[in-house]
Amino acid sequence: MAASGDRQAKKSKRPISHYSGGGSRSAAGALQPNRIYQMDCLGGLKRLRGQVSVIVTSPPYNIGKPYSTYHDDRPNHEYLEWMGRVARACKESLAEDGSLFLNIGGKPSDPLTPLKVVQRFGNVLALQNTIIWVKSIAISEEDIPKGRGIDEDISFGHYQPVNGPAFLNGCFEYIFHFTKKGRNDLDKLSVGVCYQDKSNVGRWQRVVADKRDRGNTWFIPYETINESRPHPSSFPVKLPEMCIKLHGVKRTKLVVDPFMGIGSTAVASARLDVPFIGFEVDPTYIKIAEKRVSGLQN
Ligand SMILES: C[S@@+](CC[C@H](N)C(=O)[O-])C[C@H]1O[C@@H](n2cnc3c(N)ncnc32)[C@H](O)[C@@H]1O
Repeated sequence: MAASGDRQAKKSKRPISHYSGGGSRSAAGALQPNRIYQMDCLGGLKRLRGQVSVIVTSPPYNIGKPYSTYHDDRPNHEYLEWMGRVARACKESLAEDGSLFLNIGGKPSDPLTPLKVVQRFGNVLALQNTIIWVKSIAISEEDIPKGRGIDEDISFGHYQPVNGPAFLNGCFEYIFHFTKKGRNDLDKLSVGVCYQDKSNVGRWQRVVADKRDRGNTWFIPYETINESRPHPSSFPVKLPEMCIKLHGVKRTKLVVDPFMGIGSTAVASARLDVPFIGFEVDPTYIKIAEKRVSGLQN
């Protein structure tokens, strides 16, 4: 996943001068920006009290993914209790106007667990927006407006096929946007899309450019790679990139991913030239993440 997306990545304008390389171990004192710490995120988040502008993260889903260190099959009550502790630690680390984007999905046969996780986060933070991350979509020819030059059924993106007659293929996941007060102003047009009906531009005083709010369904396909995936559940770099932009790049002082994996949030932050900090328990993933980020500088 890292490869093709990152090769196309724009070079970061600011060299990542503090970038540690070699996997930063937890150390006493202040955490340094542009580093990924090999440590438990609960301990890491505690050290960032009130400093974080944006958290973008995808925790383990407790669905038995084959991570190389972490065991993704805890008893459900224990997992949910842990997610509650992560939620409280995230809240403590967030600045007053900070945003937390929680990406989560589940198994088609167990659709409630991700919602129970959200409930834990909702106990400590306000749920401001719910975004559906569309990973794959199929559109029938009859539903495509005439004159678009498309005269057949089309489908885009990748999904995990589900066997058996009971459950549909999983084509989406959630991105829950939490804030402290539930009313943060957002930079909606930074991830906006063009109007379909161009007569909207200029007709309304508030519409000054051909851009409208994209809304809360985001089609983000997985990046295509040729080699095998180095991590069983990384998200596309575009996902954290859009979240940071929506929060507002100019007012983002620090991005944190408590479950950094192979560094998609770090790559997105570096592309946008905003400082990041990550936590991850697996040193192999950290090495890959570091390679991906330093690759942006070359
Ligand atoms: C869903 S993956 C995140 C993938 C990441 N978004 C990416 O794009 O690469 C969750 C990650 O959390 C890590 N992890 C599990 N427990 C952790 C903990 N207590 N603190 C930090 N990281 C942890 C796992 O090793 C795994 O890489």
